[in-house]
Amino acid sequence: METHVCRSILLLLIFIYFLYILGKLLNVPTKEQNDHERVKIPVELFVMSRCPDAVACEEVMADVVKEVNDISTFKTNYIATLNSSATYGATCKHGDLECNGNIQELCFQEVNSNQLTFFNYLMCIHRSFDRIGSHEWAKQCSEEVGQDYDPIDKCVNSDTGLNLFIKSVQKSKANQANVSCTIFIDGHKRCIRDGGDWYDCPEGNSVKDFVKSIKNAYKK
Ligand SMILES: *[C@@H]1O[C@H](CO)[C@@H](O)[C@H](O)[C@H]1NC(C)=O
Ligand SMILES: *[C@@H]1O[C@H](CO)[C@@H](O)[C@H](O)[C@H]1NC(C)=O
Repeated sequence: METHVCRSILLLLIFIYFLYILGKLLNVPTKEQNDHERVKIPVELFVMSRCPDAVACEEVMADVVKEVNDISTFKTNYIATLNSSATYGATCKHGDLECNGNIQELCFQEVNSNQLTFFNYLMCIHRSFDRIGSHEWAKQCSEEVGQDYDPIDKCVNSDTGLNLFIKSVQKSKANQANVSCTIFIDGHKRCIRDGGDWYDCPEGNSVKDFVKSIKNAYKK
């Protein structure tokens, strides 16, 4: 009787060990783990800070980012003409004030990586189009969204800001993005907003359409 119980327990232990090894061998990552490791979808806006189409474009994107914040990384790049004799190393279509506005926006993103906060900042900046690029307005909007302006100002008035700007202009050039606003999703040109119109947007230009494109790119 005793031996019989012992043998049963031994067999049971061997069986459990066998299941354990089998489990290890068949250990396929779960879907949840996969999602966790997924690379976020880059959404890039090629813009000029003092361009009405950029303003319209960013208003739409501000609603898009709220819906896909977890699965995307939004970034703005600036369109200008590289020019070694210009104040900022490039000539901006709407003047030096625009170059300054571009640098302020790049520095904001450099200092604060929360993209929702950055879009709140842009929405504030857009409330007074004439003041886009001015120091006082950038400071006021930064503080309004809860970001101390000092580190941004330091970036704007140093090589850090200037280098971010030049790199950004080079990136726009490399992507042949010469119209503000040009939207890239997952590395591909997705849509253009120019002269008050949307065009080259085969997948649509509503908030819903952009959200869908980003979600589809993420699922691939
Ligand atoms: C380069 O910058 C200088 C100084 O701002 C300006 O006079 C000139 O027109 C610019 N050139 C181009 C091609 O934008
Ligand atoms: C703008 O870029 C497109 C390619 O994306 C190119 O076909 C077009 O000629 C460019 N326009 C100007 C004015 O450079």
